[in-house]
Amino acid sequence: MLAATGSAVGLGNIWKFPYITGENGGGAFVLVYLFCIAAIGIPIMMAEVMLGRRGRQSPVNTMAYLAKEAGSHKVWKYLGWMGVVAGFLILSYYSVIAGWATAYVFRAASGVFVGQTADGIGSLFNDLISDPEKLLAWHTIFMVSTMLVVSRGVTHGLEKAVRFLMPSLFILLLVMVGYALNSGSFSEGVDFLFTFNFDALTAQGVLIAMGHAFFTLSLGMGAIMVYGSYLDKEISVAKTSMGIACADTAVALLAGLAIFPIVFASGLEPGSGPGLIFNTLPIAFGQMLGGTFFGTLFFVLLVFAAWSSAISLIEPLVAWLIEKKGMTRIRASVWSGMITWVLGIGTVLSFNNWAENKIYGMTFFELVDFLTANIMLPLGGLLIALFAGWVMKREHSKDELAIGSTLWFQLWLFLVRFVTPIGVIVVFLNALGLF
Ligand code: PHE
Repeated sequence: MLAATGSAVGLGNIWKFPYITGENGGGAFVLVYLFCIAAIGIPIMMAEVMLGRRGRQSPVNTMAYLAKEAGSHKVWKYLGWMGVVAGFLILSYYSVIAGWATAYVFRAASGVFVGQTADGIGSLFNDLISDPEKLLAWHTIFMVSTMLVVSRGVTHGLEKAVRFLMPSLFILLLVMVGYALNSGSFSEGVDFLFTFNFDALTAQGVLIAMGHAFFTLSLGMGAIMVYGSYLDKEISVAKTSMGIACADTAVALLAGLAIFPIVFASGLEPGSGPGLIFNTLPIAFGQMLGGTFFGTLFFVLLVFAAWSSAISLIEPLVAWLIEKKGMTRIRASVWSGMITWVLGIGTVLSFNNWAENKIYGMTFFELVDFLTANIMLPLGGLLIALFAGWVMKREHSKDELAIGSTLWFQLWLFLVRFVTPIGVIVVFLNALGLF
């Protein structure tokens, strides 16, 4: 459970959630996101944990094995495959952004934020992202350190780190929210996050909110399945899944509450994009008492949160290379790390030299993000729901979930059989303008 929480809580909560909320007009977007977590995310997380625990192998092999057990077709293993591809595509840009956070550890520690205006903080950020060499260096550092850990095996040490990391991150976010409370624009921030202005929400926005529910809970690509395969038989899948979803959502909302008051107090744009946290939080660190300390600690924790997510993004690929290709763990890690690193160069350049090169109106980074978070993960989740709800034998899912009361089991079954698949399909069609 700790490792899965480590996977769920990451850049998605603190970096991505605030900026996509800002870009999609706030409150109504948040409402759709929360609804998707409850009605789609939690049931799918239960399904994924359950499949992992029953299969006890890498996602590709788990799906092949479970399909056989249910007397169904081998094609289901391609679901595991799609997850492998999605994970490494996501990690390619995740590592670049985690690199920004790493750079900010050193910036915070050196005290450059102290006494800066919002403009000054903004130009510090622009200096970083407009320099491909710097970005490449930080991306490399993050990638190498992630793969060093992956090469030594997943569970080793990860749980201990998460046990310390999550409460610390939580407390530090509370400190930030405390600062925001006194920033003079707290109520504006709260209004932005929780006033449902449906006019600001587009069909694309709904797709992004749903995609983010998958992204932030690490669903639809096998990461949670891998951790499910390590889960003890006695532990309740339902409680575990709900616990993870609640912790994850709480972190995201706290991040929003910390960031938006600064946005309004400093006259910044909520929709200014992926740089949002780097343009806002340092203003607070530059002004608050003990800001150099809190700022450094905050970015250290953010890097660790990113790192525990990064491990789970690449683990399905590494596990598969070991199981199917007979590689050693070290060799598998080196290969996976290298291809991910190379692809990440596309994201590095998306913020400078390639910023104007658009494919379907998106930079390389935006395209990879869109394809993974908004297409591949929901599609993976849809297939997982269909498999758990329709293909797997009822007595098997009932036995694995062991919810106790039949009523709760029926509710879960109803959600994965109907609500989740129909929900995902309707959102897809809606975004295509067909619905
Ligand atoms: N959930 C992670 C985050 O919010 C990202 C992630 C997605 C990790 C998919 C694993 C799988 O940052």
